[in-house]
Amino acid sequence: MKHNNWFSDTLLDWNRTSNDRQMPWKGEKNPYLVWLSEIILQQTRVVQGMPYFLRFKETYPSVQKLADAPEDDVMRLWQGLGYYSRARNLHATAKHIAYELKCKFPNTYHDIVKLKGIGPYTAAAIASFVYGERQAVVDGNVIRVLARVYSIDLPFDTTEGRKEFNALAQKLISHEHPGEYNQAIMDFGAQICVPANPKCEDCPLAERCTAYRDMRQEELPVRAKRIVKKERFFYYLVLKDDKEILISKRSGNDIWKGLYELPVIETGKPIKKQLEKTVSEHLGVDCKVIIYSKPYTQQLTHQTIHSQFIFVELPDFQDTRIDGTVRVSLKKLHTFGFPKVVHLFLTENSLL
Ligand code: ADE
Repeated sequence: MKHNNWFSDTLLDWNRTSNDRQMPWKGEKNPYLVWLSEIILQQTRVVQGMPYFLRFKETYPSVQKLADAPEDDVMRLWQGLGYYSRARNLHATAKHIAYELKCKFPNTYHDIVKLKGIGPYTAAAIASFVYGERQAVVDGNVIRVLARVYSIDLPFDTTEGRKEFNALAQKLISHEHPGEYNQAIMDFGAQICVPANPKCEDCPLAERCTAYRDMRQEELPVRAKRIVKKERFFYYLVLKDDKEILISKRSGNDIWKGLYELPVIETGKPIKKQLEKTVSEHLGVDCKVIIYSKPYTQQLTHQTIHSQFIFVELPDFQDTRIDGTVRVSLKKLHTFGFPKVVHLFLTENSLL
């Protein structure tokens, strides 16, 4: 049965005639590589994710190779990309697929979405791209396009809004070419129906777009909740001599879990006074603050991280043991994965 659908036909036509966006995972049929690309792209822009995808593909060309890799190596290859639970889940799921499923990737949306770290969006992308299953992807790009073309005023970050957008997306997806349609709407949202200053002059949907008609493009989509950002202050202690430095591994249920960093004092407010005393109390040894770095600020989705690096002189570095830290040779420092800000500091100070 041929389904008549202006929306999907127009998008597919746009994709075939005007979309020249090239990406190494486009048209890929290997589920492992599609999965890898979609995990990398979950909270990451295409230009930023591309080199990581190519590096992962080269280093771990198969799910077996990824499964067999040590976790520290996987984390190091992921360093700088953020949202590190993606890397840990990717690795855990690779082990599951390699060791329990004998490398046989699940081939339906229903089974793919059960895998750890794979949500409805990623499962729909894999199921449609690789197996041609009719499952619509719904992410920020898709929500923006639908909210504008159909003037949907329901906030998308509510249960009701999510339901409405999911149902509409599933209704509109092409019956004949679901995978191509999903890729087309992602590319369309990223290139034409962009958040600010959408390119309505170049838009093939504009003639029936109700937001365009009413000049409401910039008002849609609607969000219900304001994002409140938490402020965090990280005082990193540089404890080193000419040969060695102390580092620690992040653990617990927090950002950057699984990566390494320098020993840190975290506060909810800036430390304005008596820094030396605070550091001494934290380390349990009298020490001297030699110098501190410029402040580094990093914006994450729900928090702002203010970091500063403090060079500290210990009375006897070689004999000092500090709980939770490991002593590593400066020559080996490059073999560890660090969060972006720590990596930047170490590089700027010729320690990496
Ligand atoms: N974002 C998430 N998946 C994507 C894909 N396959 N192509 C472009 N951007 C994406």
